Amino acid sequence: MASMFLRESIRTYRERDPAARSILEVLLCYPGLHALMWHRLAHALWTAGLKLPGRLIAHLSRWLTGIEIHPGARIGRRLIIDHGMGVVIGETAEIGDDVYLYHQVTLGGTSSLRGKRHPTVGNNVIIGAGAKVLGAISIGDGARIGANAVVIQAVPNGTTVVGIPARPIDRAPAQREGKFDAYGTPLEAALDPLIRDVETLRAELAELECRVARLAPREYRQDEAAD
Ligand SMILES: CC(C)(COP(=O)(O)OP(=O)(O)OC[C@H]1O[C@@H](n2cnc3c(N)ncnc32)[C@H](O)[C@@H]1OP(=O)(O)O)[C@@H](O)C(=O)NCCC(=O)NCCS
Repeated sequence: MASMFLRESIRTYRERDPAARSILEVLLCYPGLHALMWHRLAHALWTAGLKLPGRLIAHLSRWLTGIEIHPGARIGRRLIIDHGMGVVIGETAEIGDDVYLYHQVTLGGTSSLRGKRHPTVGNNVIIGAGAKVLGAISIGDGARIGANAVVIQAVPNGTTVVGIPARPIDRAPAQREGKFDAYGTPLEAALDPLIRDVETLRAELAELECRVARLAPREYRQDEAAD
């Protein structure tokens, strides 16, 4: 079970982080991965009723990685915490699968009442560096939250929000199916039509060159062949 988690996490880091070069590098140099390993232990202790040991493990993990995850937080599969320093994930936060968080992200509460007070983040969400997501709000599947945004209202599926307070931008994420854009900026997708146009123009140019060659006088073609 633990080895499956490790294998899956390492594979995900290598697929999604362009800076991750080898299995050993991910294993040794990614505090986000270390924090998740510690969290699995802390969460198991917490849910088994061993609250203080759970808190202690989380505290040790924070000291070692700079990432603070409360042992009560529920985290899905293949979470990536990139860079990681300063991330805070509160006790009643819930995170779906394939979520990508950058450094300084807070999934925080706005109330000191016990009970659900932290965000619920759906699947395939990207939360940019420094963003604060506050309160028991939902962040829909496929949403993107801009760097340094402060989110205090629910974000619908597939919506991009930026700013303080966060507001939607007039654009659907152009994530291509099966293709993940680490920075939330689908540059490759935007370039695709241009690349297609260039390919069409090249084909047309080749065709024109052929026609010109056929029309050119015989001596000219002989000269060209001699060159
Ligand atoms: C929010 C985000 C996903 C949007 O990416 P995008 O779809 O390519 O959007 P664009 O860059 O075309 O910007 C669209 C609009 O939002 C604004 N915008 C983008 N990101 C913003 C941000 N973080 N804060 C405020 N405004 C932002 C742009 O100025 C632009 O406004 P305009 O339409 O008035 O000109 C991206 O900008 C972002 O913040 N990604 C997180 C990356 C990150 O944290 N990297 C850390 C690496 S260590």
